[in-house]
Amino acid sequence: MPKARPLKADDPFLWLPSDYFARAEMAEVFADVEGKFVEADMGCGDGTFLVEMAKHYPERRYLAVERLLGRVRKVCKRLRANDLTNARVLRLESQYALTHLLPENSVDRLHFLFPDPWPKARHAYRRLFSEPFLRVVGRVLKPGGEMLFKTDHDDYFQRAEEVIAECGERVGATVLPWEEVFYPITDFEQQWLDMGKSIDRMRLRFDVVSKDAGTQ
Ligand SMILES: C[S@@+](CC[C@H](N)C(=O)[O-])C[C@H]1O[C@@H](n2cnc3c(N)ncnc32)[C@H](O)[C@@H]1O
Repeated sequence: MPKARPLKADDPFLWLPSDYFARAEMAEVFADVEGKFVEADMGCGDGTFLVEMAKHYPERRYLAVERLLGRVRKVCKRLRANDLTNARVLRLESQYALTHLLPENSVDRLHFLFPDPWPKARHAYRRLFSEPFLRVVGRVLKPGGEMLFKTDHDDYFQRAEEVIAECGERVGATVLPWEEVFYPITDFEQQWLDMGKSIDRMRLRFDVVSKDAGTQ
């Protein structure tokens, strides 16, 4: 099997953290981030959503997180081709990035678009929605920040709704109506739409929870 080409450390569209074991500053990702609206696309795939958003909102800053090397390489290439200097890609496991690397109170909107649904019962622990996960999301978001979630997988969506009903108040998450603003269709979404599947979506706002609300 041919050896995969490594990513180029000096690629300006790639974010290589200076320390993978400490929380970063957002200024390490974007030197001019102060006062900017920041969005993160977790599991960005081939990057169509990211590219369209970064083009549409040049004043915003976009961090994409993706674990697959080939996809990261492709997204960097697309950002370069479109000269989208307001976006960068981090090659990492997204839960690790959220839990250990991304700074607290640093992101205005987190997008989880068609995360792997892990339909088998023995893999259910890999699904994103859980109280600890939502606490981590709440820490990375700025107060009043939002998490947006889309899936084609009905069971996964139902489980997400159950988790929010169980612990939403404790973690400071409130369900809001979906906002009809510019929101490009993702690569996977297009595939599901072409197959006639319906798409579920959820918008959550996170507010600061008082210490009395309990911790994990
Ligand atoms: C179903 S695809 C959706 C891609 C894109 N969001 C879209 O809607 O077109 C899921 C993506 O998330 C990535 N992914 C899955 N688990 C991940 C993880 N734990 N950390 C980072 N990326 C992950 C996969 O490699 C894949 O690119």
